[in-house]
Amino acid sequence: MNVLAGKKLLLGVTGGIAAYKSVELVRLLRKSAAEVQVVLTGAASQFVTPMTLQAVSGRPVRQDLFDPAHEAAMGHIELARWADLVLVAPASASFMARLANGFADNLLSTLCLATAAPIVLAPAMNQQMWQNAATRDNASLLVRRGVELWGPASGDQACGEVGPGRMLEPEALLSQLCSRFTQGPLAGVRVLLTAGPTREPLDPVRFIGNRSSGKMGFALARAFTGAGARVELIAGPVTLDTPAGVERVDVETAGEMEQAVMARVKGCDIFVGCAAVADYRPDAVADQKIKKNSDRMEIRLVRNADILAGVAALPDAPFTVGFAAETQDPEEYAEKKRIAKRVNMIAANLVGARQGGFERDENALTLIWDGGREQLPMTDKVSLAEKLVSLIAEHYENRHSA
Ligand code: C5P
Repeated sequence: MNVLAGKKLLLGVTGGIAAYKSVELVRLLRKSAAEVQVVLTGAASQFVTPMTLQAVSGRPVRQDLFDPAHEAAMGHIELARWADLVLVAPASASFMARLANGFADNLLSTLCLATAAPIVLAPAMNQQMWQNAATRDNASLLVRRGVELWGPASGDQACGEVGPGRMLEPEALLSQLCSRFTQGPLAGVRVLLTAGPTREPLDPVRFIGNRSSGKMGFALARAFTGAGARVELIAGPVTLDTPAGVERVDVETAGEMEQAVMARVKGCDIFVGCAAVADYRPDAVADQKIKKNSDRMEIRLVRNADILAGVAALPDAPFTVGFAAETQDPEEYAEKKRIAKRVNMIAANLVGARQGGFERDENALTLIWDGGREQLPMTDKVSLAEKLVSLIAEHYENRHSA
């Protein structure tokens, strides 16, 4: 049976060119046997008509907060209670600002304040608007309050620009809704994950980096989402697309990664350090490009903080999982690291020119915990991540029942 069958979805449509896609979204949702109540803002009705949305949803579209006809039947509070989930697609920059500030000045923003149902936004706007500091702040405030952001995707925009701000396609929103209603083993669990390499600048053009591609961490983010978890991904510089449903923060240096993790770790249930964090950074970063004036040159390095060990040492530490990439004796070194960093589980793998690991699509791991280990043979990183996540979920559950 379709997981969306009989689900009561309140679809908020706000003003933006992507509003035309909500017609297709409603059609797909109805095909999945969901009940869909559309709420249109004034600006949205400039882009798509209530008549069209009424025809595809099979219900009168709601637009006004002060609508005597509707308040007599299903008032806005009942509508807020009726919903199993509120999806705002597209969510404009203006609507996000309204929600972040708690305004109740139209039917949709009032509903969002009055509902106990999960709220999901599918942002859609010009890429500069999405990257504007005000929108970034509103987005992170909303996420901290439990609002989910799905997307936006990057690509060509209706305004002719290219960049992040495209609403996820209706099919992608449908598939995320399906997984949102699928009860996975980690439903409701908050996961914070680091992935990819870090870059430690030497001067404005050079840095010390490493070969991590971020593929394993991104595959884990995807697998955690599939298991029902809410995932925040702190990513070093990589060229990978954000997995659907994952909230991503991009950083460059180990210091920035540490700050991003520490700002988000409170209240998170599982922390996975999958990033290849630079252990050292140059003591000083030159303001200008360093010139080759002599035959020898020395770079003085200083230690970076160990993010994973720092998280594991917190008073309310989440369940912690680390990685140990080694060029020899991975299991032995990993077990030492697990104990030294006081993490719950550690995944050991061989890396190097012949062994695989970094930059590859496949990997093999040994997952080690206190009193046990399991070898996960060479396979693609997507399947490996799914296996890892189910083992992590099992041990996370056991810890709670212990
Ligand atoms: O000690 P080593 O760098 O081999 O440990 C690897 C594990 O520690 C990984 O999980 C990595 O994400 C984490 N780590 C970290 N911060 C550092 C160094 C490593 O979180 N500065």
